[in-house]
Amino acid sequence: MNVIVVKDYQEMSQEGGQFLYNQIKENPNITLGLATGGTPIGVYQELIKRHKKNPLQLSDITTFNLDEYIGLSPVSPNSYHYYMKQHLFGPLRISSEQAYLPNGTATNPEEECNRYERLIKEKGGIDVQVLGVGSNGHIGFNEPTTPFCSRTQVVELVKSTIEANARYFDSIEEVPRRAISMGIQTIMEAREIILFANGESKAEAMYQLLANTKVTENWPVTILKKHPKVTVIIDEAASHKILNLLYNYNKEYEEGQYLYSR
Ligand code: PGA
Repeated sequence: MNVIVVKDYQEMSQEGGQFLYNQIKENPNITLGLATGGTPIGVYQELIKRHKKNPLQLSDITTFNLDEYIGLSPVSPNSYHYYMKQHLFGPLRISSEQAYLPNGTATNPEEECNRYERLIKEKGGIDVQVLGVGSNGHIGFNEPTTPFCSRTQVVELVKSTIEANARYFDSIEEVPRRAISMGIQTIMEAREIILFANGESKAEAMYQLLANTKVTENWPVTILKKHPKVTVIIDEAASHKILNLLYNYNKEYEEGQYLYSR
């Protein structure tokens, strides 16, 4: 696992935008797994900025999003379909034929989960999966105690997630209680994973991932210790509980950044 500690959200976004830019440049047929939430917005902006300066060939990339709320249609401003269009697909002119998200209004959500899972397989799997993390350690909408063997499924959001996401809705009552989310096993099958975390509220989850040796379903993010190719980009606030422990890693200092690996 490689860990890059950066100063703040802006640096995390720049680093992430460059990472994705390089990945697409190296492999114009790449299949990306994408995340929503507050964390990757800056990363997407930085990718768009770089693409505008030095255009990438984007017509052959494929994307799969981690999740979608059940009950929200793609045109609902709080849906992840809408978020992706606004923050990434619109500016990059990525067409709906190459960008997949679970359908939150499917009449049979369980069948939709199976269809989504099949589609990922048919497209050859995910090359690089982008992840944020919840303050409770969730990845995608896989809340604590979700089995590590889970595949794309209907999930119930826990109170802390509903509260954290209420900031995007007019009232907390409007936050959907259920979602379709890629499962933990689905995420782990991505060939490479890049996780972003910023801010004090993610410090405990980062402690569980980077300092605690335990891999536990109580902290879904800890499963990433078992993945062979993970990069974590975190800011100082999210890494403040682990800075002492990072001294036990191999450490390099490069262009103003600390890089750790183990
Ligand atoms: P955030 O959410 O980026 O809005 O903090 C991350 C997550 O819940 O996975």
